[in-house]
Amino acid sequence: MARRNKVTVVGAGNVGATAAHWIASKELADVVLVDIVEGVPQGKALDLAQAAPIDGFDVKLVGANNYEETAGSDVVIITAGLPRKPGMSRDDLLKTNSDIVGSVTDQVAKYSPDSFLIIVSNPLDAMAQVAFRRSGFPKSRVIGMAGVLDSARMRCFLAEALDVSVENVTAFVLGGHGDTMVPLPRYSTCAGIPVTELLPEDQLNKIIDRTANGGAEIVGLLKTGSAFYAPSLGAVEMTESILKDKKKILPCAVFLEGEYGINDLFVGVPVKLGKNGVEQIIEISLTNDERSALQKSAGAVQELVDVLGI
Ligand code: NAI
Ligand code: 2OP
Repeated sequence: MARRNKVTVVGAGNVGATAAHWIASKELADVVLVDIVEGVPQGKALDLAQAAPIDGFDVKLVGANNYEETAGSDVVIITAGLPRKPGMSRDDLLKTNSDIVGSVTDQVAKYSPDSFLIIVSNPLDAMAQVAFRRSGFPKSRVIGMAGVLDSARMRCFLAEALDVSVENVTAFVLGGHGDTMVPLPRYSTCAGIPVTELLPEDQLNKIIDRTANGGAEIVGLLKTGSAFYAPSLGAVEMTESILKDKKKILPCAVFLEGEYGINDLFVGVPVKLGKNGVEQIIEISLTNDERSALQKSAGAVQELVDVLGI
């Protein structure tokens, strides 16, 4: 009998529990939800399991406060950590979340040594670097989720401005997941037509700004936490591309060794995700302005990595 896929989600808060929900409703894998708070992962897993008869998904959902149950996971999504509060930057989370992501990674690497790690905790690019260094996993198996979210935000704003289906719109956002991210209108299209042909420059600039501040906009509205529906679905799209060997090209934070002129650093670039994890890093040509914006964004990630000494 074929073995079902198994995904562990660490952190049973807003992003983690919602990721478990998307995975279950898509019947992608059995899910183990882990958190340090006693009862919360168990309660949310039980609640989701009780939704199964209504929605009709057949996956096993388990909650735990330790890692025994997670053994042999195919994919581990790490969302553990503190989210942003109003007035806080993603970088304010640096020290606390690096300790959390480091200790979680130790446990995950022990119990699921062959897994793919998808990191969500912020500051994203630096946390992916923490997980990469701590796990000792090959770079093809440690991937940060941010570009899928940032480009989904840009797609949403472009579709609204063009008054077209979101399904018609593609968008690319490169760089670190921070204020210096690099939305690329030249590589964003509506039904194959570059959006630069369809929208005036000032309107595109407003969309670029709104995309770069997309996380802060939601923090400002929610006041007690940050976005979670689109972020969790971003991690699940990456998980699905790996588990089903879909070979989707998605913007993800990966460890660069010379690509785009960036070395030894996790930064968001287009990659192909399949059964081997990161199967290809795609280098697209950039104008001088785009290249220097990407370098600036990588510089911001480098500063965090230097503070952590990793
Ligand atoms: P949340 O506060 O709702 O959930 C975080 C959970 O992590 C809590 O349940 C907490 O108990 C748990 N946790 C803390 N330390 C832990 C440990 N050592 N082991 C296991 N669990 C632990 O926060 P939310 O909204 O789910 O966000 C989670 C993280 O994801 C934050 O760092 C946030 O900034 C980040 N994020 C990143 C995005 C991206 O695009 N990369 C987008 C959205 C959120
Ligand atoms: C976001 O972009 C807070 O990083 C999180 O929504």
